[in-house]
Amino acid sequence: MKVCRRITFNSAHRLFNSHWSDEKNLEVFGKCSNPNFHGHNYVLETWIDGPIDQETGYVIDLKKLKDILNDEISERFDHRNLNLDCPEFAELKPSAENIAVVIWNILRSKLETKFSLSVKLWETENNVVEYNGI
Ligand code: NI
Repeated sequence: MKVCRRITFNSAHRLFNSHWSDEKNLEVFGKCSNPNFHGHNYVLETWIDGPIDQETGYVIDLKKLKDILNDEISERFDHRNLNLDCPEFAELKPSAENIAVVIWNILRSKLETKFSLSVKLWETENNVVEYNGI
């Protein structure tokens, strides 16, 4: 059985490879390499896969998942500049792919091992990435 909690957060980022010229950064990353950063309204779906607990009828108490997402993801990334404010991205480019991996690793450490975890991160209405640890 799979259950999901959805959250949204707003963050700024810049995709930039310091080993490349400004021209090459612009060519590869387009507007995402804008030196003054830009924002996204990220949508995060956290999917938990596990057995239904016979005592509660839940896979996981979604209130507990809500609290984990608030404490570990919203508090960390909402209204932040990912490049400048978040040590997770000091060396790592804050692409949707890498943000999803960082989020997955944070959440994995907070969830019981009996659960499988998958995160889906929408960077725009039309662009989404999914990561399940592989
Ligand atoms: Ni962007």
